[in-house]
Amino acid sequence: MGRVTTHKIRMMKKKGKKIVMLTAYDAPTAQILSECGVDIILVGDSVGNSLLGHESTIPVTLNDVIHHCAAVRRGNPRSLVVGDMPFMTYKVSIEQALENCARMLQEGGAEAVKIEGGGRVVETVRAVVDAGIPVMGHIGLTPQSIFEFGGYRVQGRTADAAERLIEQAQRLEDAGVFSIVIELVPSETARAITESVSVPTIGIGAGPHCDGQVLVLWDMLGLFEDFKPKFVKQYANIRRVIMNAVNQYAEEVRSGIFPDLEHSFEMSEEESGRLYGRVKPPE
Ligand code: KIV
Repeated sequence: MGRVTTHKIRMMKKKGKKIVMLTAYDAPTAQILSECGVDIILVGDSVGNSLLGHESTIPVTLNDVIHHCAAVRRGNPRSLVVGDMPFMTYKVSIEQALENCARMLQEGGAEAVKIEGGGRVVETVRAVVDAGIPVMGHIGLTPQSIFEFGGYRVQGRTADAAERLIEQAQRLEDAGVFSIVIELVPSETARAITESVSVPTIGIGAGPHCDGQVLVLWDMLGLFEDFKPKFVKQYANIRRVIMNAVNQYAEEVRSGIFPDLEHSFEMSEEESGRLYGRVKPPE
């Protein structure tokens, strides 16, 4: 199987094939996802909440995402790597956006960038695409605007709000995006958006009618105890697996069971005799 390209992603909608996307932030995890045939790995600014201990994505910097993106690139032989442009790294000016998106490709090894927002960023998206950098759009609940939304609220609940999202998606398509993430909207709104554009839509908390789905990896693997949005399905409880292993290790170290001889290195008898011949027993 060859590398996944933005062209292949566009074709998947035409062929009616669902797109599988997950987040990852490190090389070994990226390798697992790649081996499992995940189409797109998003190095999301969700790295802030998922790995870096922040309460939101706002504190995440361009250098943070580039650092994790480069690790994902090194570990992943196949999936398309998309680097998420963090808060305020593309809104100051089109020049700023071009420079920062270029860094995501040159230093992070990404093959595409994701840019949040509909209306106000469309011209920036157009300029980035024109510069030869593939862009994934992101509409609905866009977490970098959380203070403007006043919380993590479902978007596009009324017919008017849904119309506005459809218009945003169409303008992004016109600006050249190769796909659009739709976050936290009713399934009927997501269906209407999906049917109104020819580029694939990738849903998160947006129901079953999108052309693909994305989840934050650590949410679906169950790394966190208290964070479980309604739309996340937990496929594992990795937190429990880690806790069991760490508890067992601690118990074995304390009781002297680990390390046993199987996990230790031995000297030859001769060397060991010479060593112990030299060691003076304590007086
Ligand atoms: O940062 C991220 O992981 C995202 C996804 C939730 C789409 O933007």
